[in-house]
Amino acid sequence: MTGTAKHAHLSQWKCPSNIALVKYWGKRDFQKPMNPSLSFVLRNAFTETSVELHKNGDQKVTYYFEGAESPFGERIEKYLNHVSGQFTWINKYNFRIHSHNSFPHSAGIASSASSFGALALCLTELDFVHSGKETDSPEFWQKASELARMGSGSACRSVYSGFSIWGQTQLFESSSDEHAITLSDGVNPVFSGLRDAILMVDSGTKEVSSSVGHRLMDEHHYQRSRIAQAHENINELYLALLTGDQEKFIAVVENEALSLHAMMMTSNPSFLLLKPNSLELINRIRRFREKSQIPVCFTIDAGPNIHMLYFQENELDVKAFIERELLAFCENGKWIDDRIGSGPERLSDGLMDWPSTSSGAGPI
Ligand code: DP6
Repeated sequence: MTGTAKHAHLSQWKCPSNIALVKYWGKRDFQKPMNPSLSFVLRNAFTETSVELHKNGDQKVTYYFEGAESPFGERIEKYLNHVSGQFTWINKYNFRIHSHNSFPHSAGIASSASSFGALALCLTELDFVHSGKETDSPEFWQKASELARMGSGSACRSVYSGFSIWGQTQLFESSSDEHAITLSDGVNPVFSGLRDAILMVDSGTKEVSSSVGHRLMDEHHYQRSRIAQAHENINELYLALLTGDQEKFIAVVENEALSLHAMMMTSNPSFLLLKPNSLELINRIRRFREKSQIPVCFTIDAGPNIHMLYFQENELDVKAFIERELLAFCENGKWIDDRIGSGPERLSDGLMDWPSTSSGAGPI
């Protein structure tokens, strides 16, 4: 995760997606969470992004996704306008951005987390190089997390390795609603072998966008209890992570997943995102755990796909279980084999096979 940009006008980063165990659901002010959340970064699901600054052309942002110009550029332009208050150099340049995901769009993996994570890392690097600041300092990661949050809340948890917490909690004085903090110290080694089998139930487009979803908490009858529950769950989960208590880990993780969906089912308007096959998978995972005594559990994002979490030492048994019992309930038998990851990486020039671009850029 180290290195310095060769030129102050080009930055390239690879940033992972993350999966929340204690869920962020509901926001206040500008991109601040109603409750603290805790997640871990994935290893195989990531975005690679390059940001090139240039002074020619009249388009503020040209955004290429998987090699083709994409309308997502409009959202990026709004985002850049927003953060230009902090980074005044942004107004002096046009941006050529290339982005690529390691996972299909339809995989139900939060692509906004890895996309804004990677973009924020590029912008932070450009800024730090520009102002002669150290790019491998705690300040660098904190700034990148804060910038990522402004693009998409969950993205602020993608810039660290392993587990992180976003939002104020009594657990850490350094915790903040503005940026995530890393939890790498003290987590029991049993969790370094955490695996995530993403069981694809339905790859269709989301029925509820996350911004609409978060707004449902504004007037929710259970808002206060949900906030209290998230604080309790984060305390319990953190303790489980420190002590290596897999049973407690499982209890909290499943409670959070189902609580997120309970919030959606009981909001106005309400959303029922779980499909019959999601429920079938949940029941089978629980039955398998009971019968085999192997520690497996599930978490779910705002969609129908099931993330089955398990531990490295049970890999063979769990993979056999997936093949034997679960694939029948996955769309076209699809699942993604992922695990806890070691966080973002700076990419050296030319590592990615971008379509060639001409740059009229000079150093900032
Ligand atoms: C259910 O981070 O996608 O995945 O801030 O509006 O971009 P925005 O929302 P987003 O919300 C993620 C919600 C979640 C839970 C989580 O990741 O904590």
